[in-house]
Amino acid sequence: MKQKIKIVYYSLQGNTKYAAERIAKISGAELLRLKPDQEPKIGGFWMKAQGGWEALTGMKPGLQSNAEQLEDCGTLVIGGPTWAGTYAPAIGSLLEILNQCTVKPERVYLFGCSGSGKTEKMFREIARKLGCEIQGTASFLNPLSNQERENPGIDSFAESLQK
Ligand SMILES: Cc1cc2nc3c(=O)[nH]c(=O)nc-3n(C[C@H](O)[C@H](O)[C@H](O)COP(=O)(O)O)c2cc1C
Repeated sequence: MKQKIKIVYYSLQGNTKYAAERIAKISGAELLRLKPDQEPKIGGFWMKAQGGWEALTGMKPGLQSNAEQLEDCGTLVIGGPTWAGTYAPAIGSLLEILNQCTVKPERVYLFGCSGSGKTEKMFREIARKLGCEIQGTASFLNPLSNQERENPGIDSFAESLQK
C-alpha cells in the first residue's frame, strides 16, 4: 500500500506555496498550509527586519491548524522559507505541536525556499528540534520567480517521496 504523504508548509510571499503545490500534484500528497495569527506585512519596509527578528528570537505565533491534522500520516514533508538564516516562526510553532504528537510520522522530509540557496542551517535546526532522522531535503531559490530553473529540482524531490 502507498504511504500517505502530507505536506505541511508556511509561505509568506508565495514561493513555498508554489513548490508545495507542485510537489503535491506530482506525489499525490495532501496539503496543509499553516496560517499564523501574526506575520509581517508583505512588501512592507520592515518586512525582513520584523520577520528576521521574530525568527531569531524564536517567536511562536498561534496556528489555525491542530495536531490531529498532523498525526495520521506515514510521510510528513515540512516546507518553509529561510528567515534570517533559520526557519520562520510558524514553523517553530509547528515543531512544538509535532513534538507533542503521540503518533510520530514514519518518515520526515524537509524543503526550504530562500533568496540565497542557504537552507542547510535551517534544516539542521529543524532536525535538532524534532530529534528525528530526516529522510531527504531539497532547497529552492525563490522558485515562484524562477520556475524554469527550479521546476526540475522540485519534481525530482516530489518523485523521491514516493519511493
Ligand atoms: C523576513 C524575511 C527574512 C528573510 N531572510 C532570508 C535569509 O536570511 N536568507 C535568505 O536566503 N533569504 C531570506 N529571505 C528570502 C526568503 O527566504 C525567500 O524569498 C523565500 O523564497 C520566501 O518564501 P515564501 O515566498 O514562501 O515566503 C527572507 C525573507 C523574509 C520575508
